[in-house]
Amino acid sequence: MTDLDENPFNTTDPIFKQKQILKKDEMPDKIFHRDDEIQQYTIALEDIIVGHDPNNVFIYGPTGVGKTAVTLWMRNKLKEKAAETGVPLNVVGPINCRNYKSAYALATALVNDFRPPDDQLPNSGYSTDKVFDFLYQEIENAGGNVLIILDEIDNIPPDARNDFLYELPRAEANENTPITDAKIGLIGISNDLKFVDVLEPKVKSTLGEREIKFGPYNANELNDILEYYADMAFKDGVLEKDVIPLAAAFSAQERGDVRQGKRILQKAGELARMDGKEVVTSEHTHEATETVETDEILDYFEQDLTSHQAMTYLAAALAVIEPKQEATTKRIYKLYSSVAESVVSRVKSERKIYEFLDQLSMQGLVRSAEQNLGREGGRRYVYDITDDPRDIIEAARKSSYNNAVPSNVDEMLAYYLEEEASEYEAPDISDQHQENLWKFT
Ligand SMILES: Nc1ncnc2c1ncn2[C@@H]1O[C@H](COP(=O)(O)OP(=O)(O)OP(=O)(O)O)[C@@H](O)[C@H]1O
Ligand SMILES: [Mg+2]
Repeated sequence: MTDLDENPFNTTDPIFKQKQILKKDEMPDKIFHRDDEIQQYTIALEDIIVGHDPNNVFIYGPTGVGKTAVTLWMRNKLKEKAAETGVPLNVVGPINCRNYKSAYALATALVNDFRPPDDQLPNSGYSTDKVFDFLYQEIENAGGNVLIILDEIDNIPPDARNDFLYELPRAEANENTPITDAKIGLIGISNDLKFVDVLEPKVKSTLGEREIKFGPYNANELNDILEYYADMAFKDGVLEKDVIPLAAAFSAQERGDVRQGKRILQKAGELARMDGKEVVTSEHTHEATETVETDEILDYFEQDLTSHQAMTYLAAALAVIEPKQEATTKRIYKLYSSVAESVVSRVKSERKIYEFLDQLSMQGLVRSAEQNLGREGGRRYVYDITDDPRDIIEAARKSSYNNAVPSNVDEMLAYYLEEEASEYEAPDISDQHQENLWKFT
């Protein structure tokens, strides 16, 4: 019975002082364990300050290891020093390529970064070439050193790779552009190591003039970093002493990623609150680590991916766990079609599936391997998923694609994981009824 005269809301939080510290990627006051990277970065950018031409710099490493945070700090310090010493410098960005779906959109964003608010380019109306002309003109007008920072370049629209990562940094040497005085430097940041492999060699060598690798953090490093955030986020004395080391050890084992560590702490704190406790225990932390992976994948389903990418991702996971079948593009398309039908969404053509898989691969969610078909010739692609299929299925179930999860998926998962408890019998692939293998709800 609930007495409706009572107000159920608490006015104070016994656990968190500032929860948003754990939720958001805000610029920290301190950066831990990146002294070597900062030194290399400084040397690469210092040329501008001492009067040389800017270098192109390529920053790479897995997700959540400080690439953006360190870049923001370096940018601010560089601007400060340039202003102090009278070195002409214009910095554009970081602009996150993930937010732009075409070369046109990205070029427009760059132009508008130079321009005042009352002189912005519209989102359509010109040719892409024309927008590039505007961009070159803005760069020339700015003059001096122009440093352009593009973040998450693995998400750069495929039609924009050459223009931004090759033509743009060389525009000053290109006679067809109006640029004569300005000196361009490009900083490109990527968390997909395979991204570099797909670039043409000339693009690779232009962008990779200076390369700085940000490796994953180990458990000790993560421990220091998480302590710093926990201090700001939690009330004094609410964390049992094992909580931070456990979160650090778990994240170090997974990816060496600060964001994940912060998420575990947040979740552990929330679990403690739900329990009505005033301390966060190691049990809460263990429990938090169990759902953190699923929660991350859920974010992909609900926020980061378009609906067709999300359905392709689910289809790829299903194709991977499906017994006695390889996850070929063709098979993934078939499963994608069933998934799309069951969420009553328009099914895209088979041609599009290549694009979706390519985008998922850019996000590091799927991996492809090329197979030669031997004497008959030809090749085909077989896919794998990078996360645990149990986590993907679990996340899909919590997502708006819940209806598209086949009813017999657990049996297949059990079979895939070779659990003895499985009574599932894998169908014979020579049987024509493969399409009926999945019972979609
Ligand atoms: N060495 C560090 N010291 C303090 N905070 C850090 C450090 N490394 C990362 N962080 C924090 O972790 C979060 C993620 O870092 P950041 O955004 O820089 O990751 P990233 O490498 O750019 O990841 P992605 O490739 O996903 O963009 C941010 O809140 C950042 O401030
Ligand atoms: Mg980043």
